[in-house]
Amino acid sequence: MRLGTSLAAGLAALAFAGAALAGAEKVGYPAGYQTKFRLYNVIDRPDRKIVRFMYMNPEAFEKAKAGEPAPHGMVLVMEDRKAKTDASGKAVTDAEGRIVATDEVANVFVMRKEAGWGAEYPPEKRNGEWEYAWFTPDGARKADARFDGCFSCHKARAERDFTFTFAVNLGELKK
Ligand code: HEC
Repeated sequence: MRLGTSLAAGLAALAFAGAALAGAEKVGYPAGYQTKFRLYNVIDRPDRKIVRFMYMNPEAFEKAKAGEPAPHGMVLVMEDRKAKTDASGKAVTDAEGRIVATDEVANVFVMRKEAGWGAEYPPEKRNGEWEYAWFTPDGARKADARFDGCFSCHKARAERDFTFTFAVNLGELKK
């Protein structure tokens, strides 16, 4: 078989696989993100007794440009870790007033952008080319997860490419 033919066959197979997957299933668990991805932001949420660690994949970070939408292939991970709590159940803070996180991961939220994704959604739902997924700490998909909330809440940040912490931090990260 000529190379051109096998490449075309491979692409056709990929397109077929893509068509068979819907929404969140297109977004896989980002195995190894804690060491392979770039930690770019940490947000304390005393209200929920969690600390949120934000990561992005380094390949896409290389391509990303401040002030522009995220490049295709961008994977953003928000890892919620449980806060250390005191005897009364309150989140413990350090000398700077930051919440002390434990290593215990509660949830892993992922958003990923690829060319053409989201085309099947009506405009009032679509978040550009982003899809969302939700995993438990062992990498399994969260049972009964619903994603309409992800789309509607992140849509409020449409002018920042549907992100809360990525676009606003990129300029600083790229310095
Ligand atoms: C009620 C609004 C709301 C909903 C619903 C929501 N998010 Fe978010 N998301 C946020 C906010 C706000 C942040 C920034 C972190 C913070 O302030 O807690 C964020 C941050 C993120 C990030 C880090 C990148 C970024 O945009 O800053 C990812 C990944 C993410 N959310 C995925 C999801 C997924 C997956 C779902 C659905 C299962 C979801 N979100 C549902 C409000 C929401």
